[in-house]
Amino acid sequence: MKKENTNIISTLMLKKLISSAKKARDKAYAPYSKFKVGAAVLTDKNKIFTGCNIENASYSLTICAERIAISKAVSEGCKNLKAIVIIADTKEPVSPCGACRQFMIEFNPDMIVIMANLNRKIKIENIKDLLPHNFKL
Ligand code: THU
Repeated sequence: MKKENTNIISTLMLKKLISSAKKARDKAYAPYSKFKVGAAVLTDKNKIFTGCNIENASYSLTICAERIAISKAVSEGCKNLKAIVIIADTKEPVSPCGACRQFMIEFNPDMIVIMANLNRKIKIENIKDLLPHNFKL
């Protein structure tokens, strides 16, 4: 974890974000993979939007938890996004997929990505480091 990533969010806010993502994960609709994911995004005004993965019988229509959370924030007029938590029941903190990384970097090239698991293990990175050479127009 780099120092610059820890100063922007307070420990209390980090805890709140993680518990919000965990709660959202309980709502995941994942009957096919059985892999539940939760996400919580933090705006510049300290509002939190959450998301869970939503699968579909037509598998490729599945939407990841992170993209649901970001879409909820943006569609409510909040597109200055400071940080995102992603949580799943994995041994190591769960890492966001490539599509979600591109979705995150669109809204903030310095977004803080907090990867978590249910055993309270976390890893914090900057989206720029998770997605170098991202696609831009
Ligand atoms: N999934 C997410 O919600 N976020 C990711 O970053 C990667 C994968 C979901 C999609 C699918 O419902 C399940 O995890 C298994 O791939």
